[in-house]
Amino acid sequence: MELLSLWLCLGFHFLTVEWRITSGIVTAASQGGCKLVNGVADCQGQNLASVPTNLPPYFQKLILDANPLRTLWNHSLQHYPLLGILSLHNCQLELIASGAFQEQAHLLSLALPDNSLSENYKETAAALHRLQGLQRLDLSGNSLTEDMAALMLQKLSSLESVSLAKNVIMRLDDSIFEGLGHLRELDLQRNYIFEIEGGAFDGLTELRHLNLAYNNLPCIVDFGLRHLQLLNVSYNTLEWFLASGGDSVFELETLDLSHNQLLFFPLLPQFNKLRTLLLRDNNMGFYRDLYNTSSPQEMVAQFLLVDGNVTNITTVNLWEELASSDLSDLHFLDMSQNQFQYLPEDFLKKMPYLSHLNLNQNCLVTLQIQEHQPLETLIELDLSQNQLSELHLAPGLPSCLRNLQSFNLSSNQLLSVPTGLFAGASNITTIDMSHNQISLCPRSSGLDQGGLPSCVDFRNVPSLKRLSLEGCGLQELQDCTFQGTSITHLDLSGNWGVLNGSITPLQKIASTLQVLSLRNVGLRSSFMESDFSGFENLRNLDLSGNSLTSFPRFKGKLVLQTLDLRRNSLTALPQGAMSEQLMRSLRTVYLSQNPYDCCGVEGWETLQHLHTIADLAMVTCNLSSKVIHLAHLPSSVPQDCKWERVDIGLLYLVLILPSCLTLLVACTLIFLTFRKPLLQVIKNRCHWSSIY
Ligand SMILES: *[C@@H]1O[C@H](CO)[C@@H](O)[C@H](O)[C@H]1NC(C)=O
Ligand SMILES: *[C@@H]1O[C@H](CO)[C@@H](O)[C@H](O)[C@H]1NC(C)=O
Ligand SMILES: *[C@@H]1O[C@H](CO)[C@@H](O)[C@H](O)[C@H]1NC(C)=O
Ligand SMILES: *[C@@H]1O[C@H](CO)[C@@H](O)[C@H](O)[C@H]1NC(C)=O
Ligand SMILES: *[C@@H]1O[C@H](CO)[C@@H](O)[C@H](O)[C@H]1NC(C)=O
Ligand SMILES: *[C@@H]1O[C@H](CO)[C@@H](O)[C@H](O)[C@H]1NC(C)=O
Ligand SMILES: *[C@@H]1O[C@H](CO)[C@@H](O)[C@H](O)[C@H]1NC(C)=O
Ligand SMILES: *[C@@H]1O[C@H](CO)[C@@H](O)[C@H](O)[C@H]1NC(C)=O
Ligand SMILES: *[C@@H]1O[C@H](CO)[C@@H](O)[C@H](O)[C@H]1NC(C)=O
Repeated sequence: MELLSLWLCLGFHFLTVEWRITSGIVTAASQGGCKLVNGVADCQGQNLASVPTNLPPYFQKLILDANPLRTLWNHSLQHYPLLGILSLHNCQLELIASGAFQEQAHLLSLALPDNSLSENYKETAAALHRLQGLQRLDLSGNSLTEDMAALMLQKLSSLESVSLAKNVIMRLDDSIFEGLGHLRELDLQRNYIFEIEGGAFDGLTELRHLNLAYNNLPCIVDFGLRHLQLLNVSYNTLEWFLASGGDSVFELETLDLSHNQLLFFPLLPQFNKLRTLLLRDNNMGFYRDLYNTSSPQEMVAQFLLVDGNVTNITTVNLWEELASSDLSDLHFLDMSQNQFQYLPEDFLKKMPYLSHLNLNQNCLVTLQIQEHQPLETLIELDLSQNQLSELHLAPGLPSCLRNLQSFNLSSNQLLSVPTGLFAGASNITTIDMSHNQISLCPRSSGLDQGGLPSCVDFRNVPSLKRLSLEGCGLQELQDCTFQGTSITHLDLSGNWGVLNGSITPLQKIASTLQVLSLRNVGLRSSFMESDFSGFENLRNLDLSGNSLTSFPRFKGKLVLQTLDLRRNSLTALPQGAMSEQLMRSLRTVYLSQNPYDCCGVEGWETLQHLHTIADLAMVTCNLSSKVIHLAHLPSSVPQDCKWERVDIGLLYLVLILPSCLTLLVACTLIFLTFRKPLLQVIKNRCHWSSIY
């Protein structure tokens, strides 16, 4: 009887759940491990061996990811005729029975990634063919060959987006995507495609996004997909990219050719709308210099384009490689990690809207910024890791970098920059001049200035916020080096002696400074007595790699959050050396690689308690020439240390006491032995005197 009522209760409960969902009051519930939220049934990872049949029938989205279904049988979805989205990611599916989707007239999106659908691909294809309204299909990671893929996609003319990524497709012929007239997006990345037959994409008039990344394509010639907006051919083995000639306008906006083996700047369509061109990590250069030594005829490349029995020859002038390419809409150009030794004279002129230019890791030796080069639009310029020894600025162009916000000149061979370069860049916030041997203005007066390259001036650049001068071989800073700036992040690391023990040169930016790196600058403990009172915004201070022997004792009101003291000569932890305030504000401390004495680390637990010692596992101390990890230090050791100190006192006492006693006894004995005669002498004397 009781059991019956329980069942009734349960039944009633389920009924109410159902009623509440239909009435739309409650949006979340759960059933058989599935979460039911807002028209979505989420049954991920429930170890289901078949599609649950007990869910309410009106769900539009069913997620069955990560269940070991293996087979999707006929009619297994018949309870859910309204299903619009079905996800079967990683369900070990080997077979989808041909009638499995018979009732799914409304299915728009079907995700089948990471299954084994190549096993019974014919029947699976037959099942898919019933989905005449399907718009999105994900077949990635199913070990499909091109023939299997072609069969599965056949007749699915409503498809708008298809992913065939992570399969084993090697060739694309002109039949594989036949009839997919509505396809807008096609993902073919991570296959083994080495050949694309002419006409393979011809029927795809609506195609906008094509991803061919991570394949084995050796070249793309006669590229003629005029409606394509995004083409991604990164991580292939491309040596050539050549668009077909002609006057037609290409819609291409984004072209990713990074991580290939291109030798020449891509031969782009003559008319295009390219905004983003990514050429990172190729072998590209400009070769006009070679023209001088070789005859013009040898500097052309001829492409034989064979299509059936027709052979066309396209001739390309390699030293005028840019002449025919339209770059007038380009905003973002990444040419990093190539072999560019120079930029052609009119190179930047061709890109009037360029805002981001990345030339990191090339072989540039000089850079000319000339008149009529529209650099005003540049927001970010990265010239780091080249061999630049000179920047030339045409005279009268002081504000040519008016919009520039970030300028990276790191790791070059610059000794100076044109006068007024930074002062004219009125919007600049970030300058990275690290690893160039420069000196800063004003120079210290004692130096002989004859024959020295001019100094680099950062004074009066009010927008400047982040400045890196790491490893610049800087001389001792002068007091007004950063005058007229409001720098928040300053890196002076690796400039030995740059502060000469005094924080005074940074007083001009004390109130704005938030992050200060003073790694390896030869600071001694006397530096810590400097007055930090103006640095009220300093949050992060890096003092690693110096010669500090005691914990910093900052004068002034400092609210540091992060302090790095690694690689110094500290032998003891603070123990009251830090001000109350600093103790409260600090969140992270780095302390490792210091020769602590294990007897001087007493109280590290408190430090650990108050702040995170970020590198606690690496902090060691010396205990009678043994190195011990602080975290493994027995808690008895500090006690022992105390005893040791007391012991020494006792030892001295024990050693000295017997000697003292002996001495005392000896003295007493001597005194007693000679007492009598002494008295007699006195008596005698008195006696005699009394005779007189
Ligand atoms: C599934 O249904 C189809 C007809 O729609 C039928 O030909 C096939 O044999 C059925 N498969 C199974 C395993 O029942
Ligand atoms: C091209 O595809 C690769 C690999 O998926 C990806 O990392 C890269 O961001 C894509 N490029 C663009 C422009 O989307
Ligand atoms: C070849 O280079 C030299 C200097 O390198 C230059 O004077 C000469 O004009 C160049 N000749 C041609 C044809 O460009
Ligand atoms: C060869 O050139 C002709 C004329 O320019 C053109 O009509 C034809 O499509 C081209 N064929 C190929 C394979 O490029
Ligand atoms: C090229 O092939 C077409 C048919 O594909 C044929 O009509 C034509 O005669 C062939 N031309 C040559 C020169 O063989
Ligand atoms: C500086 O950049 C801002 C946007 O960050 C822009 O609105 C402003 O016009 C720029 N100033 C100059 C002088 O170009
Ligand atoms: C400048 O470039 C170097 C090397 O490419 C890089 O490590 C550094 O983070 C860059 N600096 C900035 C501020 O982005
Ligand atoms: C560093 O400062 C001391 C005085 O604090 C001064 O005697 C010395 O000359 C300075 N060193 C240099 C290189 O200027
Ligand atoms: C601590 O031990 C290390 C390694 O044995 C040694 O280099 C260092 O000089 C020692 N420091 C002290 C203070 O004993």
